[in-house]
Amino acid sequence: MLLTEDQIRRRVIELGERISNDYADDPPILVNVLKGGVVFLADLIRAISLPVEIDFMEVSSYGDGTSSTGIVRILEDLSLNVTGRHILLVEDIVDTGHTLKYIIDNLETRHPKSVKICTLLDRRGRREIELALDYVGFVVPNKFVVGYGLDLAQKYRNLPHIAVLEDEEIP
Ligand code: PRP
Repeated sequence: MLLTEDQIRRRVIELGERISNDYADDPPILVNVLKGGVVFLADLIRAISLPVEIDFMEVSSYGDGTSSTGIVRILEDLSLNVTGRHILLVEDIVDTGHTLKYIIDNLETRHPKSVKICTLLDRRGRREIELALDYVGFVVPNKFVVGYGLDLAQKYRNLPHIAVLEDEEIP
């Protein structure tokens, strides 16, 4: 057990309150990168007291299964027009940063008003790309984590808590 259901619930409420204050004048479109972030997004939007919109992107990164290479393919694009809108990217975990870097560069070409990042987990020990994370739930160590949307070979996403699968560092 790394993070209990209760710890996650309390942190999500705090993040929702901060987002509600920061965007009170111009509610954002929350963009979720499938699939890991869906559980977090579902809880986060219910902790936000603004009329936000949500949209989804699905990407596939070519890597060895545990780390991404920065070569990303868009499988499913947004359905909303984000030009002139605040975008808040909602992720379950930021690791090397390659996925988000690619997505941010891609979204910037559509001229949004701003692009910010909200991630539940920050595994910053693995970062390869400098990224400013605007909202972070928890910083986690270099371990395999599963649950609350995070998977291992597509399993364990439905665990209500976050667990360390193996007590080994990710190479
Ligand atoms: C995870 C996570 C991010 C990405 C972060 O997705 O949701 O999108 O990896 O890694 P990076 O910072 O090293 O680029 P994953 O590819 O595991 O897909 P999933 O969300 O469907 O589980």
